[in-house]
Amino acid sequence: MSSFPFFLAFPLWLSLILHCTSVSQPTTPAPAPPGPTNITKILEKSGQYTVFLRLLLITQAGDQINTQLNNSDQGITVFAPTDNAFSGMKSGALNSLSDQQKVELVQFHIVPMFLSTSQFQTVSNPLRTQAGETAYYKFPLNITTSGNQVNISTGVIDTTVANTIYTDGSLAVYQVDKVLLPMSLFGPPAPTPDPVPKNDDKKSEANDSGGDSKDGSASATANASSAVSFDRNMCGFIVSVTEAIAFIAMFCL
Ligand SMILES: *[C@@H]1O[C@H](CO)[C@@H](O)[C@H](O)[C@H]1NC(C)=O
Ligand SMILES: *[C@@H]1O[C@H](CO)[C@@H](O)[C@H](O)[C@H]1NC(C)=O
Ligand SMILES: *[C@@H]1O[C@H](CO)[C@@H](O)[C@H](O)[C@H]1NC(C)=O
Ligand SMILES: *[C@@H]1O[C@H](CO)[C@@H](O)[C@H](O)[C@H]1NC(C)=O
Ligand SMILES: *[C@@H]1O[C@H](CO)[C@@H](O)[C@H](O)[C@H]1NC(C)=O
Ligand SMILES: *[C@@H]1O[C@H](CO)[C@@H](O)[C@H](O)[C@H]1NC(C)=O
Repeated sequence: MSSFPFFLAFPLWLSLILHCTSVSQPTTPAPAPPGPTNITKILEKSGQYTVFLRLLLITQAGDQINTQLNNSDQGITVFAPTDNAFSGMKSGALNSLSDQQKVELVQFHIVPMFLSTSQFQTVSNPLRTQAGETAYYKFPLNITTSGNQVNISTGVIDTTVANTIYTDGSLAVYQVDKVLLPMSLFGPPAPTPDPVPKNDDKKSEANDSGGDSKDGSASATANASSAVSFDRNMCGFIVSVTEAIAFIAMFCL
């Protein structure tokens, strides 16, 4: 679960930030308003997010967002698909997902940093979501803008940000009229033979579970790749913590 690294990072960040109270950080978003922000309450108010709210509840992503907001200074951006957006999915598509895949689908709609509409202009693609790996056949999310229009492409669907539901400098919630379908769950399967994986672990794991059976090798790849994804998350976490320490140390000394 990719929220795991952020969880671990909180105490560290907090202590570092408390330690460096004199440092003014240019990119720090405005402090959240008093009282805990509650993504559920925000979406309930509008009345057209019942499916997404149910997913936030059963995957516990809603609680994670609230906790993360309370503990992180990065903020969070949520792309909330309307009930109509879910109606637009192929019938049965949502129900056919496993619990883990539902978690991934929801996490794909959550970006672990606050993005104002103007910040969309400068994001670097593919944008990393809570779903993790951004490689083409995994969970890439691309954002492009022209004027006020913000386009989102997942490789499976293209849509635009339809509306700003909520923004407070820490949490941004945007309405999308299509469910953001990730390549990993809804795209074509990744081509297996040709592009040699850079990663030897992946190859040997795939081979270990062996067999020529299509089903066997497909699920082996899925399992192997989720392990790889976790590793990469951990690496990213370690790298970013190291960077953070270096960065803050620079100002503290
Ligand atoms: C958020 O709001 C929902 C419904 O309004 C409530 O059930 C839940 O307990 C709230 N969560 C927090 C952390 O306040
Ligand atoms: C938010 O953080 C404060 C202190 O850091 C803690 O006392 C409070 O219980 C937290 N609230 C939630 C909803 O996590
Ligand atoms: C955004 O998408 C629309 C179609 O939905 C397209 O016409 C436009 O060129 C796209 N703009 C950018 C910047 O990608
Ligand atoms: C997203 O953008 C990157 C960099 O521009 C590009 O390589 C990639 O193919 C794009 N992916 C999708 C799904 O559009
Ligand atoms: C799998 O590994 C065995 C040796 O352990 C090797 O002989 C075989 O060619 C490998 N198969 C593939 C598809 O890499
Ligand atoms: C992949 O993981 C799932 C559960 O995580 C398990 O049921 C399945 O047997 C695994 N498949 C392989 C080939 O290891």
